[in-house]
Amino acid sequence: MNREFDDLLHELKQSLKIAENDYDLNNIRSQFLGKKSRISKMMKQIGSIEPAKRPLFGKKINEIKQQIDSLIVSRADEIEQHQYEETLAKEQVDLTMPGVQPPVGSLHPLTLMRRELEDIFISLGFDVVEGYDIEDEYHNFDALNTPENHPARNEMDTFYIKASNTRPKQSNNRLLLRSQTSTMQVRTMENNQPPIKMVSIGRCYRNDKPDKSHSPFFHQMEGLTVDEGINFLDLRDILIKFARLMFGESIQWRFRPHYFPFTEPSAEFDIRCFKCYGEGCSICKQSGWIEIGGAGMVDTNVFDIVGIDSEKYTGYAFGLGIDRITMLKYRIPDIRLLFENDLRFLEQFR
Ligand code: DAH
Repeated sequence: MNREFDDLLHELKQSLKIAENDYDLNNIRSQFLGKKSRISKMMKQIGSIEPAKRPLFGKKINEIKQQIDSLIVSRADEIEQHQYEETLAKEQVDLTMPGVQPPVGSLHPLTLMRRELEDIFISLGFDVVEGYDIEDEYHNFDALNTPENHPARNEMDTFYIKASNTRPKQSNNRLLLRSQTSTMQVRTMENNQPPIKMVSIGRCYRNDKPDKSHSPFFHQMEGLTVDEGINFLDLRDILIKFARLMFGESIQWRFRPHYFPFTEPSAEFDIRCFKCYGEGCSICKQSGWIEIGGAGMVDTNVFDIVGIDSEKYTGYAFGLGIDRITMLKYRIPDIRLLFENDLRFLEQFR
């Protein structure tokens, strides 16, 4: 009998050694203690044993059952402890490990420039006005005193939008993608009486072939001041103030006489080339200067069209090329870089 018990325990220990989880342990428990186990069979034999030996036999069987149970329980504890340690090891956090740096986005140079320009002109007392990319011929040309036969009105230069269902086909006020932000001086004067002091930044569109300094869409900032007694010196003064705040006190600038239909007199405003400082290079087309905008005194015809008393008020207007200014400021040699969204380029602006 003892021999049989020893074999049983030996067998149990072997099984427990390879048990890995609760499932294995449950199987072992039913194999060694269940109804069909050898122990159960031995219990059933108790009737065939001499009555005097029965109590001892029963006691022995119970002892063995307890021994089996405690061996299974202690193996279960062991497995649980092992699993716990494994989980701990797996989930351990190493606080000394260097962190993973998440990629940080950056602002587009044109956005940086827009913010800087708005800050500068707000500090000079201007309001910031939002405009529209889609405009009509009236605000883009007619109200800006642009004659019917002006080349800029040509379909080769300006992107017209095909007549839609909502507009009469023969409308003589076609929709277009605005070719200049000057539309906003018209809209502002239509809706406000002087004193007016505003700037408006936005995208413009022209049918230009892309190259180093041209893009079919680009950005302008329109500025307008209308009040009693405004003269060309005020215009000169504000543009120089702006150039110094943007590029530094030592900036060199010049005005050149020019023609715009909506200003009289008109001028163009240039800044020394950032690349060659006046020597002449491909960026400034050998001139040593980079044109950054047009300007002039508001033409009395425009005042008449928008309904502002040109006997009482005068005003100046200017239009700056924002892409040019951004290129100057950040030393960007090709306008196309601003629109290609190459991350290697964009990441340089923080
Ligand atoms: N809109 C003009 C252009 O695109 C720039 C300009 C010139 C704007 C003179 C003005 C101005 O307001 O007075 O070339």
